[in-house]
Amino acid sequence: MNKKSIIGGAAGELTNLDMDISTAHKTNTNFWDTIGSEFLGATALPYYGSFVTEEKLQLFGDVANKKLLEIGCGNGHSLKYIIDKGATELWGTDISPMQLERTREFLASNGMNANLICAPMESESGIPKQYFDYVYSVYAIGWTTDLNQTFCNISSYLKKDGIFIFSWSHPIHKCVSVENEELIFRNSYFDEGWYSVAMADKEIMLSNRKLSTYVNALATNGFVIEQMVEETDEDLLNPNLPDDFSKKAEQLPVTFVIKARKL
Ligand SMILES: C[S@@+](CC[C@H](N)C(=O)[O-])C[C@H]1O[C@@H](n2cnc3c(N)ncnc32)[C@H](O)[C@@H]1O
Repeated sequence: MNKKSIIGGAAGELTNLDMDISTAHKTNTNFWDTIGSEFLGATALPYYGSFVTEEKLQLFGDVANKKLLEIGCGNGHSLKYIIDKGATELWGTDISPMQLERTREFLASNGMNANLICAPMESESGIPKQYFDYVYSVYAIGWTTDLNQTFCNISSYLKKDGIFIFSWSHPIHKCVSVENEELIFRNSYFDEGWYSVAMADKEIMLSNRKLSTYVNALATNGFVIEQMVEETDEDLLNPNLPDDFSKKAEQLPVTFVIKARKL
């Protein structure tokens, strides 16, 4: 089945497929090792995604003297944002060696550093257990091939009462497309299948997940939700430059953010 959709603002033809973990990791690492950074957009703090910012939400609170871990740290811009806020110990993990190299260079050019680990978020990677005050992730959790194992790992890294904040593309966003300036419901919200998308000369593999899938996986792994955000910050919409993406964001959340606490 072919579907037209938008992932983080980038349009592509979707092809449904069966998921094999090592193929998904290889395909996605190849994307992030090469052209991925060209598609980053608003996926680094203070942005949680398009039209949603930490500056407005203030989900982190005071991070001075806290230990934080970022899952899928990309090229390190969110790590810098958190270091600028006064955190003392920063760790980042990512599946892509090239992304981590970019992080290293970016932080070094700002006189900063972090403990960086190259591993899939679903795997056991030697990250210390019951150690962190915060684990956070900006537009990376959705890349996991095993959501339950990923949340189980994250729970194990956090101290009791530690905070987990993450954002991802809102699942309703992929169900709707803009055609002739109208929003058309295109794909089933219930379809949690895997699909591949061509991005320039590369490919990515992702899965649809319902919001309840995230919420239930959090509950299963000992988290209680403190806040869930589904909104478009109207201050970030530019009425003078209405594009399809903004048109969508006027009527539905394109990003969701969850703040949860480990019990
Ligand atoms: C949108 S980027 C995150 C950008 C990041 N928030 C920043 O501040 O630069 C998503 C990241 O997730 C990483 N990723 C993809 N699949 C992963 C996996 N299974 N485990 C860990 N990281 C993964 C990619 O390599 C990429 O760097």
